[in-house]
Amino acid sequence: MLNNKIQDAINAQINAEFYSAYLYLSMSAHFESAGLPGIANWFRVQFQEEQAHATIFMNYVHQRGGRVTLAAIDAVPTSWESAAEAFKDTLEHEQKVTALINGIYALAIEENDYATRDRLNWFVNEQVEEEDNCRQLIDKLALVGDNGMGLYMIDRELATRTYVAPSALAE
Ligand code: FEO
Repeated sequence: MLNNKIQDAINAQINAEFYSAYLYLSMSAHFESAGLPGIANWFRVQFQEEQAHATIFMNYVHQRGGRVTLAAIDAVPTSWESAAEAFKDTLEHEQKVTALINGIYALAIEENDYATRDRLNWFVNEQVEEEDNCRQLIDKLALVGDNGMGLYMIDRELATRTYVAPSALAE
């Protein structure tokens, strides 16, 4: 059985994951309208990943005999000056998410909740990967700068990203 402090923290994290999903869906819609369908695709896959993250936490709460309570999702921004700005915002957002995951991890240590620590290890690694992917894209976009052909090539590359359900979803 989950203790209330851990349950509350995970429920807050479920909300944060859905906020992330909503944010990336908004970015996807923005870039679809801005004539960059590959970047729109990349953010649509990111949206799907965030929904999976929320679902993994929901499954975990249920596995531990807890109760999921879904709260309202805050409004998200709806436009960005450039792809570079959107990826910079994404990295900053993911760094905040990493801090939230670390906060629940610290709480799980404090509460001697070893199962939650174990579940969170997957998220700790996922955050390293997400931040790294984002940094690489920021570097690429910085390299092309205002070059339209460079942006076109990056957009084509990001169009190839496909969603793969994380293994943790089946656990
Ligand atoms: Fe669910 Fe992007 O971390």
